[in-house]
Amino acid sequence: MKRLPRTQFGNPILRKKAKKVSPNLFGSRSLRQLIKEMFFTMRRVGGVGLAAPQIGKPLQLAVIEIKTTSIRPEVVPLAPTVVINPEILTTSKERLNDWEGCLSFPNVRGLVPRHKHIIVKYFDQSGKRHIVRLEGFQARVFQHEIDHLNGTVYISRMQDMRSLITIREFKQRILGKGLKSK
Ligand code: NI
Repeated sequence: MKRLPRTQFGNPILRKKAKKVSPNLFGSRSLRQLIKEMFFTMRRVGGVGLAAPQIGKPLQLAVIEIKTTSIRPEVVPLAPTVVINPEILTTSKERLNDWEGCLSFPNVRGLVPRHKHIIVKYFDQSGKRHIVRLEGFQARVFQHEIDHLNGTVYISRMQDMRSLITIREFKQRILGKGLKSK
């Protein structure tokens, strides 16, 4: 399997609201194949989420998979999850600021405020409806990916652009300090 070509910032597809996946496609071979390729691509490039506009498809479809790593030892893992036509039903008033990156913005990170908890409704590839309450990093990743489906990228959510930082500086200044302080 080959990695899907990815769009990067500047591509207008990343700023457009994606179209809903037609219920006719639920359970179809073409949808299953696309999802398989999206998971493959996301894992190969080391992401925790990938939205269809990021591979040039204007569809309300994202894949998410969260694993605990040395960089994120405290996160609650999430098994491979397919998110189709999602809708955020409720959001906590409380927001948390934390670091985010995006496969469409290579080599940078920034501090982004996100709701601490959300309740989200979405469909999986077979058309089954899910309603889940999420918190912490899981809630953050869902908000990031659902933003992609609505044409919003994380730098537009940043409150202070001064936190925008390259990966190299991030590793030296933020990650290095965090790991040393343990
Ligand atoms: Ni992203």
